[in-house]
Amino acid sequence: MSTAVAESDHGVRSLPIHRLLPELLRDPANVLAGIGADADGEIVRLNLGPVRHYLVSHPDHVQHVLRGNSANFTRGGSFWRPLHRLFGASVMSDGETWALSRGILQPVFTARNVNSLAGRMAEAIAEGVAEWEEAVEAGQPIHVPTRIADVVNKTVIRILFADKITLAEAERIAPAFDSIATATLVRAVLPFVPNVVPMPGDRAFRRALRTVDDVVFPLVRKYRGRPTDDQDIFSVLARARDADGGELGDQWVRDNLVAMFATATETTIGALTWLWPLLARHPEVTSRLYEEIDRVVGDGPVGPSHLADLVYTKQVIQEVLRLHPVGWLFPRAVVEPEVIGGVRFRSGDTLLISPYVTHRLTRLWDRPEEFDPDRFAPERTAHRHRYAYFPFGGGPHQCLGMHLFNLESQLIVATILSRFRLTSCVPTIATPQAAVSLRPREEVEITLRPTTRQEK
Ligand code: HEM
Repeated sequence: MSTAVAESDHGVRSLPIHRLLPELLRDPANVLAGIGADADGEIVRLNLGPVRHYLVSHPDHVQHVLRGNSANFTRGGSFWRPLHRLFGASVMSDGETWALSRGILQPVFTARNVNSLAGRMAEAIAEGVAEWEEAVEAGQPIHVPTRIADVVNKTVIRILFADKITLAEAERIAPAFDSIATATLVRAVLPFVPNVVPMPGDRAFRRALRTVDDVVFPLVRKYRGRPTDDQDIFSVLARARDADGGELGDQWVRDNLVAMFATATETTIGALTWLWPLLARHPEVTSRLYEEIDRVVGDGPVGPSHLADLVYTKQVIQEVLRLHPVGWLFPRAVVEPEVIGGVRFRSGDTLLISPYVTHRLTRLWDRPEEFDPDRFAPERTAHRHRYAYFPFGGGPHQCLGMHLFNLESQLIVATILSRFRLTSCVPTIATPQAAVSLRPREEVEITLRPTTRQEK
């Protein structure tokens, strides 16, 4: 698709995108990637009527926005508005409410705490993957998003939420998150439409919000009444106090519980769904994975002691997140006027920050569309710009769950592939759904067979 970028009279590349709207609503990630590729790292103004949006993709500029002067770029604007309705004054907000929540939740996610959870994480994953056995033995296809969700939900509920939310409750709210992720996109892409004008997806959004509240508020009330010293998220939130020692209400606990549950599950499920079509198309990568996992894990169950040696497994996951960064777009609103890369921004302008776009710039990545986990071989990453690859964001808002995800995803991939071999995947080319998180549009299904003794 041609997205030829025009020069405006102020020297800023400028693109009227009205004619791209249908495509933008269908496949926003690839439309923005096309615009980014044409601009090759220069800032582009996207003209959407009176609303000023800029695509900011050069790693120096991304670094400045997310880290260098992050206080001047906040989570505001049309993309965040519906998400604020879902996540409220939580760690997904900004400013003081964000800082309070981040400070309270941070201790749960230190490397030390997460490492101490790895053993129990591996057990939960092994139990979850064992449930695939019947289907595998029967030669039945595995519906990847559902089955990966079973494993991830079980794991996250056990290690982060101390089984205080049931699997059935999680299963009730998970589809609500899906529908919120797709419903919010229409408004995010059409920022000039006022909130009072009804849009497709609005009703689904409200219904989903009600489902989330119906499940989460009773849990908040139940556990706020009996706080403990434990390090699970319920306990940490239930005993939290504000800076003056004051109580934080049910709504605050609900907001952070919802934010933590959504970020801890949706992202991991998405990433581990993108993996399979890539493996099916790249048998040479899959063979190297089997070789590494069989050598490191042998006959035993996968455990934390194997992680350091699962080097290629980690590279594969990093490369999946380069091509398919689940948090593919996280815009910022400009607070005070500022000049970046020679472009003058006004207060209220929206800067589109997208790892999906930056991860595909040819000035940074050789053959960017190609799946090549060797890009993350240790000797090849040393000289890379810190913001050439940023699936977990950066600066003060950098993903709280990054270390947890790294451990969890390595354990899940190694557990599945030590027990089973991939025999087929449909489709082998997956395309992004139009949503605020990056998920395949297609229903990804795989067939597996048990690994034989000789293969190990
Ligand atoms: C594939 C896995 C994941 C990806 C790609 C991912 C990506 C991201 C990104 C890009 C941000 C920054 C958003 C921004 O700057 O506005 C973020 C923030 C966050 N992530 Fe993740 N994430 C992943 C997994 C997780 C997990 C497993 C958890 C929790 C267990 C988690 C919890 C959070 C939280 C709480 C924030 C907000 C941090 C803040 O604003 O201070 N994420 N994530």
